[in-house]
Formats: sequence, C-alpha cells, structure tokens
Amino acid sequence: MKSKILEILEKNRNYVSGEEISKDIGISRAAVWKHIKKLRELGYEIDSKTNEGYKLIKSPEKQIEFELERMLDTNIIGKKILFFEEVDSTNNKAKQIALDEKEGAVVISEIQTSGRGRRGREWQSPKGGIYVSFILKPNISPQRAPQLTLVSSLALVETLNAIDGNLNAKIKWPNDVLIKGKKISGILTELSADMEKINYIVVGVGVNINTDINSLPETATSLKLEMREEISVKLFLKSFLEHYDSVYQEYLDGGINQIIQRWKDNSDTLGKNVKIMGINETYEGLAKDIDENGALILLIDNKEIKVYSGDVSLR
Ligand code: BTN
Repeated sequence: MKSKILEILEKNRNYVSGEEISKDIGISRAAVWKHIKKLRELGYEIDSKTNEGYKLIKSPEKQIEFELERMLDTNIIGKKILFFEEVDSTNNKAKQIALDEKEGAVVISEIQTSGRGRRGREWQSPKGGIYVSFILKPNISPQRAPQLTLVSSLALVETLNAIDGNLNAKIKWPNDVLIKGKKISGILTELSADMEKINYIVVGVGVNINTDINSLPETATSLKLEMREEISVKLFLKSFLEHYDSVYQEYLDGGINQIIQRWKDNSDTLGKNVKIMGINETYEGLAKDIDENGALILLIDNKEIKVYSGDVSLR
C-alpha cells in the first residue's frame, strides 16, 4: 500500500488530494493519512496542505532498499536487497547470511571500511562508489564457479554501455572493467563448496560512481568523471541489477558459450601483447583467447599456455 501511494506521489509533481489517492487505491482517507505518516517515519519528506493534499518533496537514499525492490524488473536478482550505509565488506556480510538467503539476494553498501580486492589486496571504498555483493546458488559443478566472474563482468560492461554508448567500457582480463584504459570497477568472486556441490557463490562488485577522483589511484576513473555529471546511484543500481538478472538467466538457460562470445566482443585484453604477473611467475605473450572457465590462453613462442590468474599490463 505504501508503495502504491508513493507511486502516485512520484507521478504527480504537484499536490494530490487525499480523496484522489483514496479513490485510486480503494482505501479510506484516514488510511491514506496513516500510510503517509508511515512514509514520513521512513524518511520521506511529504508536505501536506489543507484543501490541496500531499506532495512528495524528497525520498531519502536510505529508502533505496525499499524503492529499488519496487522498481526492479527481475526474476532472480534483487528479490531481496539489504542496503547499508556502511559495512566492513559487502562480501563478508553476504557470506555471513548466504546459507540462509535465497539465491539472488543482494547486499549493497555506500561505504566499506575493510573492502577486499583480489589477491588479498585492500579495496578503497569511499562514499560516492557503490559496493554490491550477489548471492548465487547455481546448480553447476564447483569447477565452473569462475564462469560467474565472466557473467558478472559482462553484465557490468553491458550496463555501462547501455547507460551511455560513448563510454565504450571494456573488460580487462580477468575481471576489471575499464573506461578509456582506466579502472572503473573490480570484481571479487568467492566460493563455498564441497567436492561436488556449490553451497553458494558470492560475487562482489565495486563501482566508482560519483567517487571523488582524489580518493582514487591515478589508474582509476569514475562514472561521474567520464559522464561529466552526477549519476543517480539508484538508477545505476536498477540498470545493473536488471542486466545482471538477464545475463545470469541466459547463463543458466544456455550455458557459458554465448556469454563468452559477448565477453570477447567487449574484451580489452585479447589480441594484445601482454605481461602477466602471476603469483609466482611472470608470463609475456600474445593474449589469444580465454577458455570456458575464463583462463587466459597466451601464445608464447608459438606454444599455448593457460594462465588462471594474474595482473595484466600491456607490453
Ligand atoms: C579487485 O579488483 O581487486 C576486486 C575488487 C572487488 C571489490 C568489491 S566491492 C564489493 C565487494 N566487497 C568487497 O570487500 N570486495 C568486493
């Protein structure tokens, strides 16, 4: 009921009478008033004028959870959203609750105090960015879990390019998303499984949205910087979660092949001469292809070598 009233107030930029609202949704005017009171308690700023009715002045970002769930057009992703102003790490939070939550639950935070990156690194997570972790429970073998990183980077790159076709966002292997060569997002995938069965996968995605560029490394950029305007985090999340939902559904229905094809179409790495710093070794060669689990196939002295993780730089 609250959402129906909100919908009406959002649609009308001016005052709407209590009578109109009560007729529209078939409740008494007293009930409308009760719901308005509830919305105000939730942080909505709603003005009321005698003889004119109610007008929505401002929706608090805190209500993003409630609003997002209502705005989303998805089948699996975001049916439950947990939104925080601050957490240590959304991946930590998601892992704490993953066994009890249904697949598709999403943990989102505006700040992380101990954001984690790949290979044990810290992930700077100031306000302005958005930090999102997806809880997934696909019925696949644990060996295929890295495929979810491909699904995730593809969903993000397609979101960014749908927001603005001129952004020309690209994926840098294994899973960074770049705009004009600068990093706008990183992905950290974590798995809980036994030998045969996945308990859950948590995919964490950090995106620099309106992040102050001074709080980011030289090699990073933000959506605000690239688009030269402040971006609505709520609208970004709506688009991202909906793209994620459809790419994930495609993966569940049709497997990894079509995802890989689109991943390759958006790759910034394939076809280039690269240097890869692995955990113990460094490789230099031509980035020829990726395999079905996302391992990079490098051509070194006419021999193909598979690299499973590492940091890529151009030669
Ligand atoms: C990387 O590029 O090293 C991966 C960075 C992943 C950061 C995200 S932010 C949301 C989620 N929570 C974390 O602590 N890390 C991931």
